[in-house]
Amino acid sequence: MANERTLSIIKPDAVAKNVIGEIESRFEKAGLKIVAAKMLQLSQAQAEGFYAEHKERSFFGDLVGFMTSGPVVVQVLEGDNAIAANRDLMGATNPKEAEAGTIRADFAQSIDANAVHGSDSPESAEREIAYFFGSEEICAR
Ligand code: PPS
Repeated sequence: MANERTLSIIKPDAVAKNVIGEIESRFEKAGLKIVAAKMLQLSQAQAEGFYAEHKERSFFGDLVGFMTSGPVVVQVLEGDNAIAANRDLMGATNPKEAEAGTIRADFAQSIDANAVHGSDSPESAEREIAYFFGSEEICAR
């Protein structure tokens, strides 16, 4: 199995619900290690840059508005097949379609306020990690 790193974001709805610890616990119980983490209030420019690939989509303004509506926790998870493992733990983008027991099924209410983000490929993981973290901020464990 490949040892990978992936970018995870605990979104404003989950921070507001005070379930940061419960979400982190799911990552740790699944064997993923948190090797970098910080809480941030994203600026409009930061959110627009992060989601630039979606800028032509109809929901782009809503997505940026939501992601800047309160603090987020951005973090790097590391472990075996971390990108897919994190996506499995997250569940489907739309919480109404998310499998029982996934983070989105348990903590999210809608497709826009969906609790967590996770990189969807090795290429996006590399770009997204570098977007928020310098190499000196990531701790080998
Ligand atoms: S995915 O999983 O990346 O393929 O999902 P996708 O459908 O492409 O959605 C990309 C991100 O946009 C968010 N999204 C929305 N935000 C607001 N309103 C609507 N209608 C909406 N639809 C999708 C979705 O939560 C994804 O956010 P991230 O942070 O990438 O998970």
